Amino acid sequence: MTKGDRMSDADKTDAAGSSGIRASRRTVIKGVIASGVAVGAAGYIVYDRYGGGLGRAKGSVERLVTLNVNGKDRRVDVLPNETLVHTIRYKLGLTGTKLGCDHSECGACTVMVDDISTYSCSTLTHSVRGRKITTIEGIEGPNGELHRVQKAMIKELGPQCGFCTSGQVVAAVALLKANPTPTVDEARRGMSGNLCRCGAYDHYLKAVMTASREA
Ligand code: FES
Ligand code: FES
Repeated sequence: MTKGDRMSDADKTDAAGSSGIRASRRTVIKGVIASGVAVGAAGYIVYDRYGGGLGRAKGSVERLVTLNVNGKDRRVDVLPNETLVHTIRYKLGLTGTKLGCDHSECGACTVMVDDISTYSCSTLTHSVRGRKITTIEGIEGPNGELHRVQKAMIKELGPQCGFCTSGQVVAAVALLKANPTPTVDEARRGMSGNLCRCGAYDHYLKAVMTASREA
């Protein structure tokens, strides 16, 4: 239609209709965003219904929590159903902890919680508040020197592609904390929750035995 053409009634209806749809889409989108903000904020703080100041909604979980990671208190926003591996990697930036199966099967996500070897992919972050969390980044000494387990793993050529290595190191450190002088069978059992797609099991096992002798 050129500038000089007259608009028919049908055209007018179409034009009004399509702009109406655009307007309502905008309204819907705005509404979705607003409700998302409201839901997202629900876990934080709300005004109580009697106007008596701020408080948490009944049944809600506090989202801003403090976690003790590698000896430091870290303040972080955690969703109620968030797993520890997610918090560690994507919110605290500690990417040494790997995410493999995400189903408690491979051990790539192993961290220590109160010195116990733990799959962080199947641990809710909220459940470890107030506990001591140690990731691979917290294994080295205060001046950056390698832990004896790390040195032994290098010496025994444990890491191949390296994907499982941080989990293997953390599991070995936890094992030697609980049992500083394991037999080969005990060490094999202690490391059995950590899979290695490169099949470097014997190397990792040797490394655990080497590290145990150097205690
Ligand atoms: S990623 Fe946690 S066990 Fe595999
Ligand atoms: S070294 Fe490659 S998966 Fe273990």
